[in-house]
Amino acid sequence: MPLLIKGGRIITATEEYKADIYAADETITRIEKSIDASKLPKKTEVINAAGKYVFPGFIDPHVHIYLPFMGTYAADDYESASKAALAGGTTTLIEMICPGPKDEPWDAYQLWRSQAKKKAAVDYSFHMSVVRFDNKAKQQFEKIVDDGIASFKVFLAYKGALDLTDEQLYQTMTLAKKLGVIVTSHCENAEAIDAMQKSLLGASKTGPEWHAHSRPPVIEAAGVHHICSFAELTGAHVYTVHTSCDEAVREALNARYRGVDVWVEAVAPHLVLDESYAELPDFEGAKYVMSPPLRHKRHQDILWHGLKSRSISTVGTDHAPFTFDTQKKMGLEAFTKIPNGIPSVQERVDLMHTYGVLKGRLSLKDMVSACSTQAARIFGMYPKKGTIKVGSDADLVVYDPKPKARFTVKDSYSNADYSAFEGWEKIGRPAVVTVRGQVQARNGEFVGTIGRGQFIRRDATHG
Ligand code: URP
Ligand code: ZN
Ligand code: ZN
Repeated sequence: MPLLIKGGRIITATEEYKADIYAADETITRIEKSIDASKLPKKTEVINAAGKYVFPGFIDPHVHIYLPFMGTYAADDYESASKAALAGGTTTLIEMICPGPKDEPWDAYQLWRSQAKKKAAVDYSFHMSVVRFDNKAKQQFEKIVDDGIASFKVFLAYKGALDLTDEQLYQTMTLAKKLGVIVTSHCENAEAIDAMQKSLLGASKTGPEWHAHSRPPVIEAAGVHHICSFAELTGAHVYTVHTSCDEAVREALNARYRGVDVWVEAVAPHLVLDESYAELPDFEGAKYVMSPPLRHKRHQDILWHGLKSRSISTVGTDHAPFTFDTQKKMGLEAFTKIPNGIPSVQERVDLMHTYGVLKGRLSLKDMVSACSTQAARIFGMYPKKGTIKVGSDADLVVYDPKPKARFTVKDSYSNADYSAFEGWEKIGRPAVVTVRGQVQARNGEFVGTIGRGQFIRRDATHG
């Protein structure tokens, strides 16, 4: 059905202006000062956006939905995750494909695609994790890139589960350079973490509050230094995911200064939650166990400043939902068994508006840049996604900046049984969310069609 959005204030990463937007079908066909609704087809859906912002659909470049991990599976599927994303204003997800080292990459790719195909209500793509590299795997990675996946993922962490040898890392990055695909990287030194975990557990330090002690900032900085060194050696482009601290950001920026093509991602939990949450009594801290861990509050300012100066490019979530009641409690005896992850795909945009824009840390344009445009550019979806232009997909968020409410698990579509932000104030709400011209959410409620989400084919981003 044709769509007209009238009277809103359009915000992109570079512009702010008042105009009407018309989508005859799935893409934006007109942007004009005033479009006369009476001259449009009768069946046009007209949305009054007066007093509201109109943002490009938000993109979350780092989520986990189907995730076999730490002896369990993440709690969401594409239906619950899509609903959560859309209710919160996110219209495109990039999920990490995380197979085990014995799995064949092509089979894993097909498995992850099949999880999304029937149930996605958002558009989606994937980062293909390389957890093993040999000749057989290499041919499959080439086929996967040919099929429209323009990014790899490597883990320098999770010893014995997802990490690679340095020789395999070198081969992966050499292939990435040849194919022109970017390598996204979880940057923490697996060996050092393993040693520190053993030493903490040996000293009977088993609670969730010890998780952060097993992976301090220097371990993350070492990981960023490592991936950037390999980028320097191979010429591959790299993207450091969930970069959480001053030391790690500095390593990336130092590498950029040397000419390394490195981009930096922050994620919502690190921007607003600090290490004290993982110290909550009665094992409640387990809700806040993620990797890299929540840090001292001082790092939050570094991340916000990095976003404002745009030296940090993106804000994702690393949405990795595990239930507190059953899954997080797998780690009652040892923090090393607590499934790592904090769900936040539904909350990200409201968190950024409330605790970023309204606190004066970011402009609205910075917010759009970090939560939409840069992800589209870095991962080869721009200008189809990530902006408001004639020809772009009509993925739009009509955002009402005024309503005040509180985050609560009761409003969450994720299958996790808790909200990491329970009771926190939020100001603003996605009033209408469209995906390719169709309304998929209204006022924080999913009203769309499950299965409507499309796979986004992405081509190599650099030569
Ligand atoms: O704690 C996290 N980040 N869980 C999900 C897996 C990952 O490392 O991204
Ligand atoms: Zn990670
Ligand atoms: Zn992740």
